[in-house]
Amino acid sequence: MVENLLAFNGNVVGKGQLIEISQGKPIVPDRPVIPFIAGDGIGQEITNAMREVVNRAVGVTYGRKRKIAWLETYAGEKAMEIFGSALPLDTLKAIELFRVAIKGPLNTPTGQGLRSLNVALRSHFDLYQCVRPLRHFVGVPSPMVRPQDLNVVIFRENTEDVYAGIEYQQGSDKALQLAAFLEKLGETIRPDSGIGIKIISREGSRRLVRSALQYAVNHKLSSVTLVHKGNIQKFTEGAFLRWGEELAQEEFADYIVSESELWRKHDGVLPEGKIVLRSRIADAMFAELLLRPTNHSVIASCNLNGDYLSDAAAGQVGGLGMAPGANIGDNYAIFEATHGTAPDIAGKNIANPSSLILSAVMMLDFMGWKEAAELIVEALAATIADGHLTKDLAVQAGVAQHLSTTEFAAALVKTVRRLARKKRMK
Ligand code: NAI
Repeated sequence: MVENLLAFNGNVVGKGQLIEISQGKPIVPDRPVIPFIAGDGIGQEITNAMREVVNRAVGVTYGRKRKIAWLETYAGEKAMEIFGSALPLDTLKAIELFRVAIKGPLNTPTGQGLRSLNVALRSHFDLYQCVRPLRHFVGVPSPMVRPQDLNVVIFRENTEDVYAGIEYQQGSDKALQLAAFLEKLGETIRPDSGIGIKIISREGSRRLVRSALQYAVNHKLSSVTLVHKGNIQKFTEGAFLRWGEELAQEEFADYIVSESELWRKHDGVLPEGKIVLRSRIADAMFAELLLRPTNHSVIASCNLNGDYLSDAAAGQVGGLGMAPGANIGDNYAIFEATHGTAPDIAGKNIANPSSLILSAVMMLDFMGWKEAAELIVEALAATIADGHLTKDLAVQAGVAQHLSTTEFAAALVKTVRRLARKKRMK
């Protein structure tokens, strides 16, 4: 127990225990301390809803045996106001100690010297996997005829490519020096160019593809697709594909079947327990996710393509409001809503808390508290299917009635209790 021994940002840690993570695998006690950052804009409203639903689901699933000891910690505007820093050292220390955290959306205050707080957190904790599961919930309006056909988990590399952040402003000394150096290598650079550098490493690619393949194995999923733009960028995107395929052969040979083998040896029918390893050029992948979404269950890609693909896929199943996210490394994991702070609706009690609630579901799943995670997903599906919609979804569906954030959370809690009772009676 770490009770009453420690305080971060002035908040004393309650009765709770430490999560440990060894080689990417969490060892979770029954009363883990979990730091949360409510975030800016609608952050506080959706965080309240998320904690209420998670506490109830954990309570009805495990009784007194398990409970989360939440620890509020700060970043963004609230942190700036209270502590004069958008990312106080204590916030980093709390996550360093407790390993698993969850956060709402953040505004990066201007003049802080940080490009983005989210990117700063990801790079500080080396959270190299950005994991985004995307599926449809019946009742969520979508532009697709069969939105339920899309059910993918996207693993986007989170530390390299455009996130390496090497970029020089047009006309700056560094841009001019780099242009001069590149000219020595025989390249022609227009003198009025800004220059960005794309970095893709072998180790960075291999660890990301390893995580995607391991996820497919753990969740018994039948395909992993490596998405790249290697036809044009051969030594970065193309290398990502090559290194990914090499890793798959070295470490997952018992599981994987290539797409050509699938047809050559198995008549297009994947043998039980195997995973088909596909590769797709990024532009073709966008078309394929629209036309043949059932071909794909796990996708692995470099940073920028993964960014585009995640939001496009979220759009197919009804938008960002329902899309959860996780940033995971070998030693830490931070779960987060994928939308922004929605300043236009902040404080109005109309935000949709589903993205953050589903991020908490990913967190429970990561912790191995799968029964509580499943209960929340079932309750969310049932609540929405019953026509209980927050305003964003109601507007998209063209219906006048909608629930406030707090009413939606209350409806979810009620459904969690009802489904738990039903399960106990079975
Ligand atoms: P946004 O996602 O905040 O808003 C886009 C639109 O979606 C708005 O109309 C908003 O009302 C709506 N919306 C977003 N989340 C919603 C929810 N849960 N329920 C109902 N409606 C919702 O994107 P925007 O306007 O581009 O960014 C606003 C701020 O958020 C910026 O400062 C940006 O930097 C920050 N941001 C932070 C992120 C993070 O912390 N992970 C991610 C994206 C943006």
